[in-house]
Amino acid sequence: MFSLLVRRDGLIEPPSMGETDVHCHILPGIDDGPSDERGSLAIARLLIEMGIKNVVATPHVISDLYPNTTEAILDKVEAMRRLLTDSGLNLNIMAGAEYYAEGALLDRIAHNDLLAFGEERYVLFESPVENQPMVLEEIAFSLKSAGYTPLLAHVERYRYLQSNFDQVVHLKQLGVHFQVNHPSFMLPKTSRRGEMARRLYIKGMVDLLGTDMHRATSEAQPYAQTQRRSSWSGFRK
Ligand SMILES: [Fe+2]
Repeated sequence: MFSLLVRRDGLIEPPSMGETDVHCHILPGIDDGPSDERGSLAIARLLIEMGIKNVVATPHVISDLYPNTTEAILDKVEAMRRLLTDSGLNLNIMAGAEYYAEGALLDRIAHNDLLAFGEERYVLFESPVENQPMVLEEIAFSLKSAGYTPLLAHVERYRYLQSNFDQVVHLKQLGVHFQVNHPSFMLPKTSRRGEMARRLYIKGMVDLLGTDMHRATSEAQPYAQTQRRSSWSGFRK
């Protein structure tokens, strides 16, 4: 999907974020994203500033922590859509979720109780950072069998993949698509996450990019500004 651009100085140009953010915690009061509408609007403004035209709202769905239902998310997205229109902000919002890789997700797949997006019917799901959960490959298989495209969130973050690239290749072969957090490309060489994001990109294994933005804070502001100025530094293979 992304073709590598090598500059004259030999450095690789980081991928462009494009116009769609497929991973964003923009909805208010539903997970660890903004607590109120003001915070949601601040995120929306920042995304627009970056040139984003479409955003998939992907609140966490975790049984013990954020037991968000499909209906509740759809209601929130509808309310957010009205809020954006009323605020004069031109941002197309779609409903999605960031499902935790747990047994409950298998039940959801069995009941077709999922928020998928795009023609490919992407279902975004995340895993714990340290170890691959037992159910992960079963989730990928079940999603595919049910006609969805499994989309693993922020692949660069998982320690069990950083230390075992064969497993990354294996998941790809199983048909898992990879989402990478765009800000990860800006991380220094000392960052395992940054190095993993760049490695995935160089190997042509990045399917979709997202911001995974939770709030328009001091952390997100410089990122958005860098985006606008397109003054990213390149990197080496
Ligand atoms: Fe997220």
